[in-house]
Amino acid sequence: MNIISVENLTKYYGDFLAVDHISFEVRKGEFFGLLGPNGAGKTTTIRILTGLLKPTSGTVHVMGMDVVKNPVDVKKQIGVISETANPYLEMSAWENLMFAGSLHSMPKEEREKQAENLLKLLGIYDRRDEKVENFSKGLRKRVTIAMALIHDPPILFLDEPTVGLDVQSARMIREFLRRLNERGTTIFLTTHYIEEADILCDRVAIIKNGKLIALDSPENLKATNKEEKIVEVSFNKHITGIEKELAKLPTVSKTEKFGDKIRLYTSNPSVIIGEISKIAETKNLRIISINTLAPTLEDTFVKLTGLSSLDMERMEQIGRLKKMKMKGP
Ligand SMILES: Nc1ncnc2c1ncn2[C@@H]1O[C@H](COP(=O)(O)OP(=O)(O)OP(=O)(O)O)[C@@H](O)[C@H]1O
Ligand SMILES: [Mg+2]
Repeated sequence: MNIISVENLTKYYGDFLAVDHISFEVRKGEFFGLLGPNGAGKTTTIRILTGLLKPTSGTVHVMGMDVVKNPVDVKKQIGVISETANPYLEMSAWENLMFAGSLHSMPKEEREKQAENLLKLLGIYDRRDEKVENFSKGLRKRVTIAMALIHDPPILFLDEPTVGLDVQSARMIREFLRRLNERGTTIFLTTHYIEEADILCDRVAIIKNGKLIALDSPENLKATNKEEKIVEVSFNKHITGIEKELAKLPTVSKTEKFGDKIRLYTSNPSVIIGEISKIAETKNLRIISINTLAPTLEDTFVKLTGLSSLDMERMEQIGRLKKMKMKGP
């Protein structure tokens, strides 16, 4: 059963087309990811899906309700965590949750029960009475997530939930989301971390310049790339220009340096492994390790969007600088 249906969704900001006729469905209980580089239209899309922004054209239905026509009813069924959502700093974690519960007119007893439950699951119950201003970014995010779930909604929307967090907080939040999804909550998240989409999502929609360019499970997306394999080799020492030499081998489409390893993209790994041994011998190099790898979701993403995660990282930094400038000092 489809819990979210998006049909021909389009959004213009003035003359600028930010979301370009996208259509997709999210099934009940699914962990769904919207993946794309900076400026792809992820935030615009999630804001429309949650009723915070009106589309220029197209429709969105959440649990059968049109989000433009029934925003109040839709909001009862969803939890939303925007990129910038934050708890009130001068209040404690507990007070923030009580406040969030009051916005949904929840009875005191129910609010308290749900708050205790969530804070325990998120590992911050012991710190519930501390003011949030003492909390790290990761801990604040956990409070924000608890606030969005206080009314136990069947669908949770998150815009880049782990961006800018330390590794441990990010892992904790992913683990929490996974458990929440196992219990039956449908989760829709946006991310530009390919790895995050790969490990969490049942299905991933990839958008670029407002257009939907692929939608499938991570494994199916990887399989579209299956004619390509990767041979990863490391030698006892590095010789300048060795990557170029290896790139000339038959069936090798490109080579890349990965730390002390070199990756060769090829359709025929077994032949290539033999050729690498020959080159190593003539150059007096010893092979330390050699492995054949299946393409990752990132390889597929690169193929589809023409962007590597390094490009994404750079775009992310530029994006953050721009946002800082817009906000001003
Ligand atoms: N209020 C606005 N007015 C004009 N243009 C906007 C507005 N909001 C977003 N845009 C533009 O629309 C495009 C999509 O923006 P959006 O924030 O949806 O992308 P995103 O995928 O969420 O990017 P990011 O990874 O940086 O969060 C961008 O080119 C952005 O500059
Ligand atoms: Mg965004």
